[in-house]
Amino acid sequence: MPKFTINFVQIICWSTIILSNLCDADNLVELTQKRVHISSQDGSITSVVGILVGHNSKTERPTGCMVIICNATCVGGVDVRGSAPGTRETDLLDPINLVNIVNAIVLSGGSAFGLDAASGVVRCLAEKKIGFQTPARPVPIVPAAVLYDLDVGNDSFVVPDADSGYEACMAADNSRVTEGNIGAGSGASIGKLFGMKYAMKTGLGSTALTVRNLATHATVTVGALVVVNAVGDVYKNGTLIAGARTSDGKHLLNTVNYLLRFNSSVDNTFSVGMATTIACIATDAYLTKAQAKKVSQMAHDGYARAINPIHTMFDGDVIFTLATGTSPVSDVNLVGLMAAEAIERAIIRAVEQAKSLPGLPSVHELSSSGETFAFSGTLLTLCFFSNYT
Ligand SMILES: *[C@@H]1O[C@H](CO)[C@@H](O)[C@H](O)[C@H]1NC(C)=O
Ligand SMILES: *[C@@H]1O[C@H](CO)[C@@H](O)[C@H](O)[C@H]1NC(C)=O
Ligand SMILES: *[C@@H]1O[C@H](CO)[C@@H](O)[C@H](O)[C@H]1NC(C)=O
Ligand SMILES: *[C@@H]1O[C@H](CO)[C@@H](O)[C@H](O)[C@H]1NC(C)=O
Repeated sequence: MPKFTINFVQIICWSTIILSNLCDADNLVELTQKRVHISSQDGSITSVVGILVGHNSKTERPTGCMVIICNATCVGGVDVRGSAPGTRETDLLDPINLVNIVNAIVLSGGSAFGLDAASGVVRCLAEKKIGFQTPARPVPIVPAAVLYDLDVGNDSFVVPDADSGYEACMAADNSRVTEGNIGAGSGASIGKLFGMKYAMKTGLGSTALTVRNLATHATVTVGALVVVNAVGDVYKNGTLIAGARTSDGKHLLNTVNYLLRFNSSVDNTFSVGMATTIACIATDAYLTKAQAKKVSQMAHDGYARAINPIHTMFDGDVIFTLATGTSPVSDVNLVGLMAAEAIERAIIRAVEQAKSLPGLPSVHELSSSGETFAFSGTLLTLCFFSNYT
């Protein structure tokens, strides 16, 4: 019990430092990086040693895929919170199941068609003789998740395929992750509750945090990579920054206020599978398979702080966790807290780094980034009440 008490006090102290920087009496720990807003010179998921990232973007339509490769021995976990997920090999990550290592995670656009990208990554890793050792040969373990972007651009038949995954795998390196409209972020968008006409462009964002324990000098790094493709709006520190637009397209509608004011249900206002925010956490922490799953679960809190509404019936939200175990730190509470923080910051980067597509403005093109509730015209009302009985 005393051991637990000490750990608990440490957790509170570390948490307080990360969140408010107030805990500096008998400092046990400090942050090795400035905790102020992560800027481009700061880390990305590849700050975790052994993690490589590769992208492949289609030229015919804004879509693509990406791979996060573990060039080490990674334990993997996953937590699926959304209700319209498109996944492959996620059952294998259940802590009760056999395989204890993960070689790579694939995140792809193209809805269920994009799951083919994982086959290309399996081929690429098999050529390098990387995989779970079986009596016959190594079998690459490559869980994957996809997002829906088929209505972006003019040809829904252009989707990431196995060759896209193969190219992404061959391109993987440990340089800082390129963000914005790239890979699975090419066709990502948000604010889709009233249809694509009112949505905004987002993309891919990645950040990393490192915490050092002053007593033991041990450090732990947690990186996040997220592709933001949600029904809901995005908030930065509680302030709405991007999402569904008003009918004139110039202001933010504020989806939550809109729904609460109209005191109604949003059932069936659009078709299932139109969103999904997918992410991967990587850490050098020493975690068990069950703890890796717990970190994925806590990381979803980062989604909830930055996206509202989130985890709806139309969001297939998935977060994977890869843990290399090279750090002696194995505190799942600290790692989970850091993961949620890294995800929240990465979501905001994904919005801020995105570039507009025709009919799909990014945050930089919106005339006002403040919250407005300028309901005008009947278009939104019609859309909103069309299936309400
Ligand atoms: C939130 O606000 C705090 C305090 O002003 C600031 O340090 C932090 O960078 C902000 N977070 C984001 C994600 O902008
Ligand atoms: C992968 O890891 C091995 C062994 O640590 C190292 O020699 C190699 O350079 C790494 N590959 C990449 C692409 O970083
Ligand atoms: C679709 O979009 C691409 C890229 O903008 C363009 O080159 C192509 O002509 C378009 N095709 C059709 C059928 O509109
Ligand atoms: C919403 O509608 C229900 C049912 O008509 C009513 O009981 C409730 O008071 C309404 N809430 C608000 C905030 O108007």
